[in-house]
Amino acid sequence: MSEPLDVAAIRADFPILSTTVHDHRLVFLDSAASSQRPRAVLDAMEQYATESHANVHRAAYTLAERATNAMESSRRRVARFVGASDADEVVFTKNATESLNLVARSWGTANLGAGDAIVLSVAEHHANIVPWLQLSEATGVELRWIPIDGDGRLDLSGLDELLDGAALLSITAMSNVLGTIPPVAELAQRAHAAGALVCVDACQSVPHTTTDITALGADFLVFSGHKMCGPDGVGVLWARRELLEAMPPFLGGGGMILDVRTDGFTPAAIPHKFEAGTPPITEIVGLAAAIDYLESIGLDRIRAHEARLTEYALGLLGDRFGDDLRIFGPTDVGCRGGIVSFAFADIHPHDLSQVLDQHGVCVRPGHHCAKPLMRVLGVGATARASWYLYNDTDDLDELADALDDARSFFAV
Ligand code: ALA
Repeated sequence: MSEPLDVAAIRADFPILSTTVHDHRLVFLDSAASSQRPRAVLDAMEQYATESHANVHRAAYTLAERATNAMESSRRRVARFVGASDADEVVFTKNATESLNLVARSWGTANLGAGDAIVLSVAEHHANIVPWLQLSEATGVELRWIPIDGDGRLDLSGLDELLDGAALLSITAMSNVLGTIPPVAELAQRAHAAGALVCVDACQSVPHTTTDITALGADFLVFSGHKMCGPDGVGVLWARRELLEAMPPFLGGGGMILDVRTDGFTPAAIPHKFEAGTPPITEIVGLAAAIDYLESIGLDRIRAHEARLTEYALGLLGDRFGDDLRIFGPTDVGCRGGIVSFAFADIHPHDLSQVLDQHGVCVRPGHHCAKPLMRVLGVGATARASWYLYNDTDDLDELADALDDARSFFAV
């Protein structure tokens, strides 16, 4: 059992958590959408902006060298964080969505066509669906879907058939709706055995648990800065060197070329080949600071803390609201993260979230960019509460009290 987190001390690191909403303390339960930033990240970005900022990889003066060093040392930091020994395998993007589009447009268009197949699950975020649908429209590649069972886990009974002849398995490492944590390493092993590559959408897992690309068996892995205590505007694509080297550039422009002529161009080496235009340098620096912050606390401790909160939440909400509250996803906290989607007493999730907001409680209502999953669940929307290292059981008690109030308000 890992040492519990000192949540009071952690909360003090996050300036926004001392703000109030409607005269209530902020109870922020929407980290699956975007997490909050500690002072260390805000300071690192300010320090970079006030002491080192210039454009990168373009100039010879000292300030530009400082900026370039700051960005490239952040790249090495990101590589170490996911267990990669080669920092050139880390490509900075705008967000995980752009990273997935990069894989689909660049690797997908160059390698796949009619007669090929990609395997996805019905629990994917639109970011891991729409780029593949676009690729399918453009090339005729077939999309195959892993279903879920009644508990919200992937139903792997037909996996061998789905993988037969497939070129790629692209899968979330944690559902942003159900919190389900699929057995990615096992899936990757089976995909590789069938001759398919593996792309992992790690947006919801990288912030909350230790990530090791080798243990996962990933060939591509994507995540965003803004869900892991870092800034928005920066995302990551990690991919194996030989894949990146063989892939054509995605966006064209400055920074991604070795030479440009009137009749053509020669792309730069990786990773710059995929980083057209001025990158989000300040945000990249902030991302490295977020990694330092998370590692100073310990990803394994964060995961254990969130599992304890999930267990508490499932018990609390189940005991207090019984059949009025339907929780989606697995009940076993061993295979679910700190995300709980629910339907409550026939109150529309948008109405519910507005009443909760009156208590300072932030939850996300809606389809969570997972409409195929909503269709499988038979709902148009859910309310979703999600927690992180700065939440504690008091926050969950506040959520339960606010739900009680909503029940009275709507007289249901
Ligand atoms: N992907 C984010 C979410 O699930 C925005 O809310």
